[in-house]
Amino acid sequence: MKLSNGQQPVVALVGWRGMVGSVLMDRMQAEGDFGLIEPLFFSTSNAGGKAPPQAKNESTLRDAFDIGQLGKCDIVITAQGGDYTSEVFPKLRAAGWGGHWIDAASTLRMQDDAVIVLDPVNLSVIRKALARGGKNWIGGNCTVSCMLMGVGALYKAGLVEWMTSMTYQAASGGGAQHMRELLMQFGTLHSEVKALLEDPKSAILEIDSRLLARQQALAGDDVANFGVPLAGSLIPWIDKDLGEGKQSGDPGWGVSREEWKAGAETNKILGQGEGFGTPATPVDGFCVRVGAMRCHSQALTFKLRKNVPLAEIEQLIANDNEWVRVVPNTREATLRDLTPVAVTGKLTIPVGRIRKLAMGPEYLGAFTIGDQLLWGAAEPLRRMLRILLEQ
Ligand code: HSE
Repeated sequence: MKLSNGQQPVVALVGWRGMVGSVLMDRMQAEGDFGLIEPLFFSTSNAGGKAPPQAKNESTLRDAFDIGQLGKCDIVITAQGGDYTSEVFPKLRAAGWGGHWIDAASTLRMQDDAVIVLDPVNLSVIRKALARGGKNWIGGNCTVSCMLMGVGALYKAGLVEWMTSMTYQAASGGGAQHMRELLMQFGTLHSEVKALLEDPKSAILEIDSRLLARQQALAGDDVANFGVPLAGSLIPWIDKDLGEGKQSGDPGWGVSREEWKAGAETNKILGQGEGFGTPATPVDGFCVRVGAMRCHSQALTFKLRKNVPLAEIEQLIANDNEWVRVVPNTREATLRDLTPVAVTGKLTIPVGRIRKLAMGPEYLGAFTIGDQLLWGAAEPLRRMLRILLEQ
């Protein structure tokens, strides 16, 4: 991005203190992004306060609702959340601002003039939109982005007739408070049976029933975020009920918003389906919250368009981008490399358990994991910034 006055592009950062924002700041710092921009830090609650050390010439926090101040920036990056986007974005555009808006929230994702950014998968879609004057760049749903970083190669090769994804989503997808709540629940449950656990002669069924009684008694603040216990349990519904008010049998009945995103966003990222004049690939499944901290895991089933040898499939996946890793389908490698604990904090996206399924040679299974705060949230945003800076 060349500015006529020869200065560095002014980039507004909003929501940089939250969980996604903090990961974004760390990644921008690690990759030297701040060396290429004049960052202006905005705050929704502390305008006038001191900006973080990454600030250069402007070391005071600006008001994130000040349309005039935002309007002076070349680029706005926000991880502030959907309510902020809904309030500020329309006003900023209505005021005539023609800058680039990079956003982690889902609010604008499905709008026609917005691109869901995941450049290792859809750089060509991004470049086409840039050439047409596109200005709105939105990070994808974390589960979808991590899935496509892992198995995007199969889509790019035109091999996927349909896919189901059964997810095991971490607490962080709900937010920081959800992670805290999960840990509090673990602690409460452990305290309940600590004495029994320490006695090697205690009966496991007694421990189990005491635990269950405590889980069932969790209420109020204990479950304020998830609504029900997650520790020692799971929740097979994420986000809103899109089917509310519909009858069983109606399209969309019984689908959670997270499940709907899998199909809608996968196709939009790939530049196919509605709005692109090409058929969409059916993608559907069940999204489940589990007691992991920040890695989303997914079991995938593909119906391939043809029978492709497993070795070829593994090679396609492994060669797709520099972050994907094929994990050999052995017990040892799976336990070592294919767990949320092994993947947290890393940009690598392991894909393992790759095997043909009993239904036939066109049916492929795989299991993939991604840190939902990295490829699932922060990384595509900072990479979009770099794409704009390189224009
Ligand atoms: N909606 C996701 C989840 C996180 O709840 O896990 C954001 O993409």
